[in-house]
Amino acid sequence: MNEDKFFITTPIYYTNGIPHIGHSYSSIIADTIARYQKINGKKVKFSTWVDENSQKAIQKAEELGMEIMPYLDMMASKHKAVWDGLNIEYTDFIRTTEQRHRDLVQKVLKICRKRGDIYEWVYEWMYCIGCEAFKKDDDLIHIDKETGLKVERPVSGKTKAVCPDHLTEPQKIKEKNYFFRLSAYQDFLLDFYTKNPEFVVPQDRFNEVIAFVKRGLEDFSISRETNTFGIPLPHPPFDENQVAYVWFDALFNYVTVCKENQEWKDDSKFWPADLHIVGKDIIKFHAIYWPAMLKSAGYELPHQILTTWFFTVNGQKISKSLGNVIDPVEFSEKYSKDLLTLYLLSSFNIWQDWDFDEKQAIFTYNAKLANNLGNLVNRVVVLSLKLWWILKSSKDILNQVVNFPIWSEWSVTTNLKSVFINFYNNVKEWYENYNLKLILDESFSFLDKLNKFADEKQPWQMIKYESKQEETRDILFTIAEWLRQVGLALYPFFPEKIAEMFVKLGLEKYAERLEKWELEKLISEKPTFEIKEKWENLFNRIEIL
Ligand code: MSP
Repeated sequence: MNEDKFFITTPIYYTNGIPHIGHSYSSIIADTIARYQKINGKKVKFSTWVDENSQKAIQKAEELGMEIMPYLDMMASKHKAVWDGLNIEYTDFIRTTEQRHRDLVQKVLKICRKRGDIYEWVYEWMYCIGCEAFKKDDDLIHIDKETGLKVERPVSGKTKAVCPDHLTEPQKIKEKNYFFRLSAYQDFLLDFYTKNPEFVVPQDRFNEVIAFVKRGLEDFSISRETNTFGIPLPHPPFDENQVAYVWFDALFNYVTVCKENQEWKDDSKFWPADLHIVGKDIIKFHAIYWPAMLKSAGYELPHQILTTWFFTVNGQKISKSLGNVIDPVEFSEKYSKDLLTLYLLSSFNIWQDWDFDEKQAIFTYNAKLANNLGNLVNRVVVLSLKLWWILKSSKDILNQVVNFPIWSEWSVTTNLKSVFINFYNNVKEWYENYNLKLILDESFSFLDKLNKFADEKQPWQMIKYESKQEETRDILFTIAEWLRQVGLALYPFFPEKIAEMFVKLGLEKYAERLEKWELEKLISEKPTFEIKEKWENLFNRIEIL
């Protein structure tokens, strides 16, 4: 395993619409983890973009009366604008209509066929376009045709069987297809899971995957005869007029970006992927189909899959027809990208379904970023400017046993330096375990304590007395150092604002140094804060209307 690289992916998004706030969740999580890995010294590759060979997109283009390729070009650039608008620091973009991807998928199809893993069969089944997946009777629910409400049992003529996620009736299909022999991979997968006990995070989801595989696997169709758009199966060895099933094509995007990167160069050193981020709805494809497909095609398997949960808006599934779609770029332009990141990553666990609430998002931002962090930075800057400009510790405060009670919960026998090192060791572990919520919670609770400390000490009063100026300076230094340490932990979430905070605190070139992987050095470095001027507030409060 190459320890110096980190290859992270988001799902590639369908192009029947523009990414909404739900989609932005996967990308913001991926972005935060990628940024952490980068400052942590890894060479990061981060791929994303669009899954184009889907029937949904074709339907949408038809609805708009557009030819498919101009439609896909338009949607690809709209998707890119969303990720750029959110300042997602991807390194690789992939469209599945690109020639490099078509070449790779066709090559892989030939390899899998040669291995005997692909065979033909005339096939009769149901297909849900919303899921781009085949369905069986057991996968469907029954709803009343008139009311649309779910019923326990079907009643002839009155109810219909629909997909539980899309509430639409699946298409009935009978055609000749090619099948992938997934059933032959059951033992291989179970063995792989045993040897890689952290392959799927969280464990509960992994247990479900394992139980599913243990119940026995069925082969799945990897081609469509009736589709006119998509990657053609290479002829020979396959029949003409068959295109690859969208999932067989889409999953290989992760390999394409390594084998044939944007500049058409070989970037193979990044394969296998270190982390795939996927929603819980698509875990089956990634944790079961994908390792089997890779094994068949002769590639190494990815290290880990992080499963994320879903959120609703106003208690409802996000949908255009319900009018609750939130555009993540408009939302962050209205408030701020930091508000969006903070709310999405701090209010709920990645492994929990939840409801997005705009007012709550503003409360959270005001409390944590504007008050807790922003005000404190402001206080230190203003007070330091009154007297010294340069804040350094008059004595070696960091290494001394703390000689003033910081707050009652903490033992006075602890020195500040070990407090910080301990804090950052925890932060690192949480980043490695993708516990982003805990990093935010602990950082802001650290800052809460620091605010309490400032309120107790009242350096703004002390500063008036000449005899207390030395002590005031130590207090301000302590607060500034605290902010610096928390800033290092929070940088991957709010890179621009934290970089600005470092500048306000008179710490030159910190963002640059972080980008040059100097995180470790910075954590243990003894700083001098050369505070030079009063700046605008770091975060302005937002009024709730
Ligand atoms: N194209 C496939 C993925 C192929 S990856 C080889 C796909 N695309 S999608 O556009 O439908 O979804 C992309 C991701 O967005 C999925 O991981 C999905 O779980 C996530 N989300 C979509 N709506 C969401 C919410 N409301 N909340 C959280 N995540 C959501 O699936």
